Amino acid sequence: MYKDKIIWITGASSGIGEALASALAKEGAKLVLSARRTDELQRVKNTLNLADTNSLILPFDLSDTKNIQELTQQVISKFGRIDILISNGGFSQRSFAKDTSLEIDRKIMEVNFFGTIAITKSVLPYMLAQKSGHIVVMSSIAGKFGFYYRSAYAASKHALHGFFESLRMEIATDKVKVLIVCPGKIKTNISLNAINAEGATHNKMDASTNLGMSAEACAHQILKGIKNNSEEIFIGGKEIRAVLIKRLFPKLFSKLIKKQKPE
Ligand SMILES: NC(=O)c1ccc[n+]([C@@H]2O[C@H](COP(=O)([O-])OP(=O)(O)OC[C@H]3O[C@@H](n4cnc5c(N)ncnc54)[C@H](OP(=O)(O)O)[C@@H]3O)[C@@H](O)[C@H]2O)c1
Repeated sequence: MYKDKIIWITGASSGIGEALASALAKEGAKLVLSARRTDELQRVKNTLNLADTNSLILPFDLSDTKNIQELTQQVISKFGRIDILISNGGFSQRSFAKDTSLEIDRKIMEVNFFGTIAITKSVLPYMLAQKSGHIVVMSSIAGKFGFYYRSAYAASKHALHGFFESLRMEIATDKVKVLIVCPGKIKTNISLNAINAEGATHNKMDASTNLGMSAEACAHQILKGIKNNSEEIFIGGKEIRAVLIKRLFPKLFSKLIKKQKPE
């Protein structure tokens, strides 16, 4: 299914994005790899033995998407089409709402929400013209409920659901699909790279993240979700049960979630 497909992955320099690049390279996909750090994207390309003809490194910052149309044009010039966009790039938060400035809240929204919809809006006209395409967007279980230290992060992920559920309905007849992925705890650098109230990196591996599912297993589930034309998938360990508990027993959920350790 993925052989020779043109797949653009953001956040491909690390964690889940890198694991997706690795799994898709094995399937023979042609990959466009984006993130801010060019050297890390180059490392991923070298590790995966990607040939220049089958890959493109396209660094950019999701908080500054002024030139996103030029970048999209570069992908189209090289490969002629985009089959799958995996909008995975993003970062987390470790600070209480009361201590976090509006500037930091906006920074999180800018990358996780506006950056994600900017690349989507840039790719969308090509997918609509092709009458095919798959948009995969990386939310979180924090896109389904709030948690300690995650006010702006959870808001940015909740916002993705509102946007992409609406978009899915609007483009269904054009044969462009939307998959929203909600991981729980996945063992990546997410907590190390999260920002605190001052905007500095948290720089600490959370104990629960350290015990999380591997990025490779997560990538495997995501590729299965794309193949199955799923609309929304939950990936992780027992923490993802919280989504169902909230839906079915909201009062019980409220009691249980407050007892969880903030980290
Ligand atoms: N790990 C989890 O437990 C978990 C759970 C739920 C959801 N998620 C979501 O999964 C996605 C991937 O996270 P991960 O766990 O793989 O963490 P990660 O290892 O920290 O990877 C984050 C990726 O996003 C890129 N990125 C961050 N800020 C960016 C920016 N301003 N512009 C462009 N790229 C940026 C990073 O690359 P550069 O630093 O090179 O830019 C990196 O490639 C995120 O959207 C995250 O919210 C993760």
